[in-house]
Amino acid sequence: MFVRSCPLIRQTVQPRNFYLSKLPLITHPSRPLKAPSSPHTSSSSTHTFSTNTTYRTPVSDQIRMEAKQDNQKFKLENLFNVKGKVALVTGGGSGIGLMATQALAVNGAKVYITGRTKEKLERVAKLYGADVPGDIIPITADITDKESIDNLVQTISEREKFLSILINNAGVSSSTQTTEHEDPQKLRQSLFEDASSDVEEWDKVFRTNASQLFFMTTAFLPLLSRGTEQEHGWSSTVINITSISGIVKLAQHHFAYNASKAAALHLTKMLAHEVISSNLRVRVNNIAPGVFPSEMTTEGSDEKQKSSIPKEKFEGKVPAARPGKDEDIASAVLFAASNQYLNGQTVVVDGGYVLMAGTV
Ligand SMILES: NC(=O)c1ccc[n+]([C@@H]2O[C@H](COP(=O)([O-])OP(=O)(O)OC[C@H]3O[C@@H](n4cnc5c(N)ncnc54)[C@H](OP(=O)(O)O)[C@@H]3O)[C@@H](O)[C@H]2O)c1
Repeated sequence: MFVRSCPLIRQTVQPRNFYLSKLPLITHPSRPLKAPSSPHTSSSSTHTFSTNTTYRTPVSDQIRMEAKQDNQKFKLENLFNVKGKVALVTGGGSGIGLMATQALAVNGAKVYITGRTKEKLERVAKLYGADVPGDIIPITADITDKESIDNLVQTISEREKFLSILINNAGVSSSTQTTEHEDPQKLRQSLFEDASSDVEEWDKVFRTNASQLFFMTTAFLPLLSRGTEQEHGWSSTVINITSISGIVKLAQHHFAYNASKAAALHLTKMLAHEVISSNLRVRVNNIAPGVFPSEMTTEGSDEKQKSSIPKEKFEGKVPAARPGKDEDIASAVLFAASNQYLNGQTVVVDGGYVLMAGTV
């Protein structure tokens, strides 16, 4: 089997329980080594706890100082620090992309936003880029076109030495079809004969929701790698915005969209694996949102580039009994961007939708 040099694999394939066999056995001097009893079963066994001598030593000022210092890393501004980071959010002019953009810019990142509609991007930069610690910079681009992606890399490279965060968020929905037919002829009519159900549409949806994640991520690898070199303890990151539609077994009346999002989820895992296997310290994760207000879900936005879904529409439909809020996406984005131990994972932010709908 071909194994590329990977820091985690250490170049050689070890027997399955190699790492376990290397783990030191943690024993307690006065506690016999035995399987821990379950907290749910009563046990008559008595444990003897020895008094560790460290606890009897008086706490010195030095130790107190060190503990106080240790607390600093737990502050929110240190745990979720994106100050001075350079980010790119595709589809940053509306919906979820705008939520991600605000989360980063308000916390001090310089955020480039792309989309095909210049006016939308400029409005967002003007409205949300003013009086914030970071910056919002619009650049028009079509992320389904390789040449346009290359131009985007070129434009950002001319302005920045590195990229710390790439959020592949741009996406499109697909047309809907009724699946509630028991008559095979009627089901065929709805799914096969319907004029909106054509191969070109599947191509467009896959091109925008899946293929572009591959081209965008790979095109930006050199800039992302340089982002990792900027700060000790920081690895640049790609966050793909997938969807719970790629996880649930329901077609939700749009087969093409759901299939494209399932592809996006798998693509995230493959990219994460291949990138780390090439020894690049760039993390690739995805956020799978449930239903959030956006131009896609409401077919429009207001003068602030925001969309809304009435809360009542969601009662009984999702355990949270409401659609997602800006803050739900924002906190997930800050977590995925800053948590250095997260790689190849899916962060589901859906108010419990998947729990209700079930997975495959
Ligand atoms: N809202 C939800 O409930 C929900 C749930 C799960 C997942 N998602 C995912 O979240 C992402 C954002 O969608 P959204 O709901 O926020 O919808 P949205 O408001 O319609 O945002 C999509 C953005 O993508 C941009 N875009 C589309 N095609 C593009 C292209 N070829 N090149 C560059 N930009 C392009 C659009 O701008 P232009 O048209 O100006 O190019 C638009 O700003 C999508 O991937 C979507 O599938 C949304």
